Amino acid sequence: MPSQQKPQSASNRSKTSAPETAHSITVRKAQLSDLDKLVALENRVFTYDQIGRRSFRYLLQRPSVQVWVAELTHNSVPGAEDSATIFAGYTIILTRKNSRKWRVYSLATAPEARGKGAAKALMNVVQETAENNPNVSTVSLEVKCDNAGAIALYRNLGFEVVDVMPNYYSDGSDGYRLQISL
Ligand SMILES: CC(C)(COP(=O)(O)OP(=O)(O)OC[C@H]1O[C@@H](n2cnc3c(N)ncnc32)[C@H](O)[C@@H]1OP(=O)(O)O)[C@@H](O)C(=O)NCCC(=O)NCCS
Repeated sequence: MPSQQKPQSASNRSKTSAPETAHSITVRKAQLSDLDKLVALENRVFTYDQIGRRSFRYLLQRPSVQVWVAELTHNSVPGAEDSATIFAGYTIILTRKNSRKWRVYSLATAPEARGKGAAKALMNVVQETAENNPNVSTVSLEVKCDNAGAIALYRNLGFEVVDVMPNYYSDGSDGYRLQISL
């Protein structure tokens, strides 16, 4: 995350169902038309190192950047915009030419969508996509040392702490760098 995301097609869409909670999560590549929702979610979720509208627009158009979004469909989600599908979250992956390393630049889910597997679904798609790319050997990310929920998510997915970065975030808090080898 900054200091400072297969029914349609196997490469850019993934759907998981959880019958016990009667919801399904769809992960797809973000489009420019998602810009407003991305900015609105970012502003709700982060109080530090927020990604601004201009940056999102730039990121959405960069070929080396992947922005994935998760949509949650439920029969009784409060505040749903259409037939109970909400914009549940996003993740941004930075890649570089001639680098075997991908970086998870940001990940966030909407407060009303939490605990339903949206972040896990986003990260699963990222890992799957990375694993299917022979040029990628590791995925790394940064997280605040006190962000227990996110750290649990990443550790359960197989990420390990490889570095501690004092005063890494703009609010002065420390960060961990986590990494997974594919
Ligand atoms: C961290 C965050 C992305 C998790 O999103 P989520 O959609 O609730 O996560 P999921 O429902 O997919 O949870 C997947 C796993 O993550 C872990 N997890 C997620 N939130 C957790 C919490 N609050 N406490 C403990 N474990 C948690 C669990 O291992 C969970 O698996 P389980 O449900 O089988 O136990 C979300 O809380 C968020 O957006 N937080 C604010 C922004 C942020 O911190 N982003 C990460 C920056 S590095």
